[in-house]
Amino acid sequence: TEYDNIILERRGRVGLITLNRPEALNALNLGMLQDVVAAATALDRDPEIGAIVVTGSARAFAAGADIKEMATKSFVEMYLADWFAGWDRFTAVRTPVVAAVAGHALGGGCELAMMCDFILAADTAKFGQPEIKLGVIPGIGGSQRLTRAVGKAKAMEMLLTGRTIDAVEAERAGLVSRIIPADDLLDEAMATAATIAGMSLPVAMMAKEVVNAAYETLLEGGIRFERRVFHSTFATADQKEGMNAFIEKRPPAFTNR
Ligand code: HXC
Repeated sequence: TEYDNIILERRGRVGLITLNRPEALNALNLGMLQDVVAAATALDRDPEIGAIVVTGSARAFAAGADIKEMATKSFVEMYLADWFAGWDRFTAVRTPVVAAVAGHALGGGCELAMMCDFILAADTAKFGQPEIKLGVIPGIGGSQRLTRAVGKAKAMEMLLTGRTIDAVEAERAGLVSRIIPADDLLDEAMATAATIAGMSLPVAMMAKEVVNAAYETLLEGGIRFERRVFHSTFATADQKEGMNAFIEKRPPAFTNR
């Protein structure tokens, strides 16, 4: 394929991005960043795609940013390159993105999972921000997104000690939506994504946008933003179809208009 570090597949209306650098436990180097962003952007532009799944291997979703690539860099090199800023283009994707996480999701791997819209965790998943053990801190949004996901106490402990949490603790803390037996993870993630892809794409994008507003804005502004976007769903044909189908006790036939 055109990608060296990932495998990109289209299965029906679901795009599947599989991180594929097994020799480095899917560590996120520049090539991986470019491939993930290019694939996600291409899927986002594809009108046939209604949801995206990002996954890794059974052993590792991703074991972090690539330590070997960064180790010798200076402050000025990191600053001038604006290291990791390219990942902002991943969060600009408007199509819903599900992370299917098995094994290690550490450092940048945990951050990539949190950049997805929600995380489905295998019972083997392990999440952590161990950067402090390397003498750095998270650099792809981990301190912000983890704190919002699990609250200050657990985020602070994880960032300050580097302690990793398992799937059960991650679910209890609200970091992941569900735990799935590892053997079933990908099937369940694809089925979940297919459910999303069966919804009206513009309305799914609006739902994603308003939940993200809860992250990105203060509550008052977020509630006002949500109400305005809610009003605008009434400008779609799919709102009329969805509500009429309910009243008529039949499945809806969405047309993305
Ligand atoms: C580069 C990595 C890597 C990483 C693993 N590898 N993680 N290479 N960057 N983040 C490589 C190893 O060097 C090794 O290559 C191969 O992958 C297999 O890893 P092992 O350590 O042999 O596997 P195992 O013993 O099973 O241990 C798994 C592990 C451990 C617990 C996940 O690899 C680990 O602790 N990795 C680092 C986790 C981490 O600190 N992540 C945060 C990175 S910093 P060789 O060639 O030796 O076989 C970050 C954000 C930084 O993400 C932000 C601020 C700049």
